[in-house]
Amino acid sequence: MNKRFSVYLNSKIKKFNKAIYVEGDKSISHRALMVASQCMGISSIKGILESEDINNTVNCLKALGVKILKKNNNYLVYGNGLGSFRKPAKKNLYCGNAGTLVRLLSGLLSTSNFKTKLTGDNSLNKRPMKRIIDPLSKIGANFFPKKKTTLPLFIEGTNMPLAQKFEEKIGSAQIKSSILLASLNTPGITTIMAAPSRDHTENLLRYINADIKVKKLKKENLITLRGMKNLFSFNLEIFGDQSSCGPFIILALLTPKSKLVIKNVNCNPTRLGFIKILKKMNAKIKIINTKKKYGEFVGNLVCESSPNLKPINCSKKLVPFAIDEFPLLFILSSLIKGKSKWNGIAELRKKESDRIKIMEAGLRKVGIKTKSTKDSLTITGNPNIQIKKTIHIFPYNDHRIAMAFFCLKQLINGKVLIHDFECVKTSFPKFLMTMKKIGAKYEIQK
Ligand code: S3P
Repeated sequence: MNKRFSVYLNSKIKKFNKAIYVEGDKSISHRALMVASQCMGISSIKGILESEDINNTVNCLKALGVKILKKNNNYLVYGNGLGSFRKPAKKNLYCGNAGTLVRLLSGLLSTSNFKTKLTGDNSLNKRPMKRIIDPLSKIGANFFPKKKTTLPLFIEGTNMPLAQKFEEKIGSAQIKSSILLASLNTPGITTIMAAPSRDHTENLLRYINADIKVKKLKKENLITLRGMKNLFSFNLEIFGDQSSCGPFIILALLTPKSKLVIKNVNCNPTRLGFIKILKKMNAKIKIINTKKKYGEFVGNLVCESSPNLKPINCSKKLVPFAIDEFPLLFILSSLIKGKSKWNGIAELRKKESDRIKIMEAGLRKVGIKTKSTKDSLTITGNPNIQIKKTIHIFPYNDHRIAMAFFCLKQLINGKVLIHDFECVKTSFPKFLMTMKKIGAKYEIQK
């Protein structure tokens, strides 16, 4: 368990002109480790995010018999091939705060013929698992207790998995990836008709020559994967996490006379919803020097103060491509004149916290008017917020909430204390250090 600490903020960020890096992409780090465990031979992965979520993935894989070493800056994963997990000696596979870990690992465990227990922290134990229990049960896995749809859960994989046709309607990359990972060790062709969502799993599987095809249809993607093809070890480099750039982008846009370059960032088009939305709001952002590397795009982001930002009525279509950046979009729209409406965001209620409810609670404390429904949020922005007494923010174990309010306070006067800030370590251990580089001031209170 991480030591708890709060962050006290009492000053506004001053104009800056900097170039920074952010840590490796979290989604790809989870996938690279898990996929490498199913390959034959030693895979070498550079740029793995060294955060708590990824640490839990490493520990779960080790408990399942996978040797993982760190040598210089590379993680070496000693894969033993498809379906090679061994029943863990430990009672539990602890997934911490990581939804991606539990959902993707369940895909691999569904074709591993033993029973094991999956647990998580308070936040993960509340998150919905029926979305993977149903499709993985169809393949042949069993979950216990029957009818329970949250962790802790036992999963018992099968050695006779059945290829299926699935429809993934939510636009969830975690569900899609869970099924894809299960299909690797399943004879025959698994078919997924998937609503668009981040496609790192498809890219990685294509990069290592798995038998995968993706056909873009009008509204969905038709993915087919022929299982039981032996996969071989690979070399990979992981670049900066687009989602970790969000807080810095917001500060650059809203701080007068500022400019920021973020170097070597993963620029997969399915992760660029945030930038697309910001551009619609008149943000000055460019992506330059884009190159394809290891099956993904990488580039540099250049952002500048944007005095003409305007509110938006944001369409549901963009939501899956900006899913983790909504707390930051809520902060930005709170600080510009006019009413913004965020539509089709019901999934935010199922993240590390109910992000609509918790963001609304914090924004109201600083005097921002909000109105929500089950799947939308309307925010009336106010560029002249005045805080009178110290405001306390509780992120409820949700790193994105903690980082979003950190940004809000950098842009307004007054005093804010953000409690339990250690949750940021799940995705971005160097967050505070990187903030310091661009001139943000804060005080840690233990
Ligand atoms: C992720 C997918 C998203 C995202 C999460 C990471 C992934 O979740 O919110 O932080 O790595 O696949 P959903 O796919 O459930 O929307």
